[in-house]
Amino acid sequence: MDDKTASKNISSEGDKVMEELIQTLPQEKDWVGSTLYQYQGFWYSLVPAKAVISFQNHFKAHDTDIFLITAPKSGTTWLKALIFSVVNRKQFPHTQSPLLATSPHDLVPIIEFSIYSENQTLDLGNGNFPSPRIFATHTPYGTLPSSILKSNCRIVYLCRNPLDQFISDWHFIVNNFPRKEDFKPFSIEEGFDRFCKGIHAFGPFWEHVLGYWKMSLEHPEKVLFLKYEDLKKDITSNLMKLADFLGYRFSEEEIRQGVVEEISKLCSFETLKTVEVNMTGERPDGLKNSAFFRNGKVGDWVNFISPLMADRMKQLSEEKLGDSGLKFDLLDKME
Ligand code: A3P
Repeated sequence: MDDKTASKNISSEGDKVMEELIQTLPQEKDWVGSTLYQYQGFWYSLVPAKAVISFQNHFKAHDTDIFLITAPKSGTTWLKALIFSVVNRKQFPHTQSPLLATSPHDLVPIIEFSIYSENQTLDLGNGNFPSPRIFATHTPYGTLPSSILKSNCRIVYLCRNPLDQFISDWHFIVNNFPRKEDFKPFSIEEGFDRFCKGIHAFGPFWEHVLGYWKMSLEHPEKVLFLKYEDLKKDITSNLMKLADFLGYRFSEEEIRQGVVEEISKLCSFETLKTVEVNMTGERPDGLKNSAFFRNGKVGDWVNFISPLMADRMKQLSEEKLGDSGLKFDLLDKME
C-alpha cells in the first residue's frame, strides 16, 4: 500500500469513528429545522460539531497563537478586522490594508467553518499560517484543546448582550439558511424560547460567556474579556487595551500620528460594510459576505422583542450570571 492510500484509509476510518460518535449525541432542531447535536453541554449543527471534535483532538497550540473567541453574532467580524490590523500594522499601513479588498473571514480563518470543516486531521504547522497564527473560534471554554490551555497563547473573548445577540443570530439564520422541507417555521417567540432554553447553535449563551469570564478573572494574562457594547462606546481605549494585551502596544509616536483612530475607522461597521468584497462576495459555501453586516447597532432588540420577552431574559440573566460579577448594561436600562 502506498502512503497516499494508507493515509486515505486512516482518514476514512477516522470519518467512520466520527460519524458513529455524532450519531450517539442528543439531537434537537434549530430555527430552520436543521439538526443540532449536543456535545459536552453545547449545541452544534453537523459541520461545526465535527470540526469542534477534530479541533479538540488534533490542534497543537503555539505559544505565539492568538485566539479570537466569540459566540456567533457577537462581533466576530469586527474583532477579526481589529486584531488583524493591530498585528499587521507595520506591514500594512491602513491605506494599504488587505481589509480594503479581502473579507475579514479570509484573513482570520475560523476553526468551525474553515480550518476543520472538511479536513479533520489538518496539519497547521506547515507554513501556511505565518506567525503569529490568528484563529477565530466559537468553541466553548470547556471544549478547547488542552494544548491551548497549557500553552502561552492569548485568547481574546468578545461577547454581546443576549438580546442583541439573539436578534442578530435570528436574522442571520432565518434570512440566510433555507428552511428544511416540511419544517413548520418558528415564530420569533418560539425561537426566543429555544434561545432561553439554551437550544441554539453554540448555546447555551450564558455558559459560553461565563466559561471565558471566569477564565479571564483567573488568568487575566491569558484571556482578555471584551464586550461589543464597550467597543461601540469607546473604541480608542479598547483598541489600545487590545494591542497591549496582544503584546503589540501602540508607541507614543503612533498615538500622536493617529494610528489608533485610523485602525478604528478602517475596522468600523460603516467602512467595512461598504468595501466591495463585503457587499458582493461570498463564502466558499455560498453564504453572502454581506450577511455579516446587518446594522451593527446596540439595542436593536427593542424593535423585535416584547417587554414581556425582555423581562424573561432579564430574570434569566440575573439567575444565570448570579454573583459572577458579569453584567450586561442594557438589561439594567430596561427598568
Ligand atoms: P447585527 O446583526 O446586530 O447588525 P459576527 O461577526 O459575530 O457574525 O456578528 C455580526 C454582528 O456584528 C452583526 O450585528 C453585524 O452587523 C455586526 N458587525 C459586523 N461588522 C461590524 C463592525 N465592523 N462593527 C460593529 N459591528 C459589526
